[in-house]
Amino acid sequence: MLARLVVGGVISGAISGCTRQVPEAQALGDPVPGLTDDELARFEAGRALFDRVFSVEEGTGPLFNENQCSACHTVPAVGGTGEQLVIKATRRRGDGSCDILASESGENLRRQATPVLARHGIERDTLPSATADIATFSVPFLFGLGAADLVPEDALRAAADPDDADGDGISGRVGLTPDGRVGRFGRKADVASLHDFTHLAFFNEMGITTTSHPVERGPNGAPLPPGTDPAPDPEIDDASADLITDFVRMLAPPPRPTPTPDAAALIERGEALFTATGCAACHTPHVTTGPSAVAALDRVRARLYSDLLLHDLGPALASTCAPGASETEYRTAPLLGLAARRSYLHDLRAFSLERAIELHGGEAQGARDAFAALSVLDQQALLRFLRSL
Ligand code: HEC
Ligand code: HEC
Repeated sequence: MLARLVVGGVISGAISGCTRQVPEAQALGDPVPGLTDDELARFEAGRALFDRVFSVEEGTGPLFNENQCSACHTVPAVGGTGEQLVIKATRRRGDGSCDILASESGENLRRQATPVLARHGIERDTLPSATADIATFSVPFLFGLGAADLVPEDALRAAADPDDADGDGISGRVGLTPDGRVGRFGRKADVASLHDFTHLAFFNEMGITTTSHPVERGPNGAPLPPGTDPAPDPEIDDASADLITDFVRMLAPPPRPTPTPDAAALIERGEALFTATGCAACHTPHVTTGPSAVAALDRVRARLYSDLLLHDLGPALASTCAPGASETEYRTAPLLGLAARRSYLHDLRAFSLERAIELHGGEAQGARDAFAALSVLDQQALLRFLRSL
């Protein structure tokens, strides 16, 4: 462990001066160590709201998926994953651009209705008639994403290599939001910030309007029957949404328990193989944050194992398109807390880490093949490394 840290420090020291590293938490769901009392208080208040069940009177619905953030983000701790799969539907327009069918609820099909809406015979969104492609997206871990929020946009642009100018077979494109900004969150990198994601999650998952999304969306975009949406808009105020965003921002990266000496040697070997096989070309171990009002996250290096860019993983994993992503492109999945997960990839189709790697195609074909060519022992070392993150 100590050896690993020293080696990491030397390498990063050469690249980025003596940037501090975000310390790890004691337990999943803990705040980043080193917060001020005031920041800790915001974290706790934000967690309470993240965990809170919002009633219909407070604005949940009339169409929604769940009535609390932690209905989905809960396993094995608040901020974690869950069993829900969120459904999205898209099509291609005549000019080839991606239509996320936003006005027909394609961006997020809501599968529940409040009793008052159900009395009108409306129980859920149905698949928009124009749908060409469907995605089922599983719930990602939110641990350690605060650092991802704070990477300067210029750094993302600098890391991108859209035309594969360096000829390594790996391009990497910057994500795009529907309104043309740089995206970095969501499996298709179509959301700009944690702030925006909180507002979108309230609107899309919980049917709760916010200052960014103040107009309730009816069933597949059709008008709501009168009297079915009594709560005044926006149904949640900015101060509360900001507390939730702060909670997510200050969630620490998962802990890394000290391994036994034998395991430590295996993990170290696996880490070297992770780089040698080309995994680290997309799953870049660290990001460096820009300035932040939260001192513990201010210009620090944080483990993420993602470049936050879009990569084409080939036709086997195709789902929907997004404003900046084709059907086969995904943002590199951060690789944190894998030991606490049982299934992998955007729709949880892989029940083992081996299978997740095997399903990497497209730009990742070379890394996949390099992994397949390793000896069984080396493969086990790499997998043990993944489970240590
Ligand atoms: C119905 C289940 C569900 C609920 C409720 C839900 N989420 Fe999520 N969350 C998801 C899914 C699915 C994704 C992945 C979506 C995607 O990739 O486009 C996600 C992604 C996220 C992300 C982006 C993670 C990343 O790696 O880019 C953030 C941040 C987030 N959710 C925060 C919240 C907050 C805050 C709330 C409550 C306001 C919330 N979520 C409620 C299912 C849910
Ligand atoms: C060209 C870029 C690229 C390379 C190279 C690459 N990956 Fe990935 N990886 C991705 C993307 C993009 C995803 C998300 C795919 C999805 O969700 O369907 C992903 C997902 C994963 C996941 C699943 C994570 C989760 O949360 O479900 C694991 C595990 C993984 N990669 C490990 C590896 C390993 C090990 C290697 C090297 C053998 C590797 N990857 C090489 C881009 C890459």
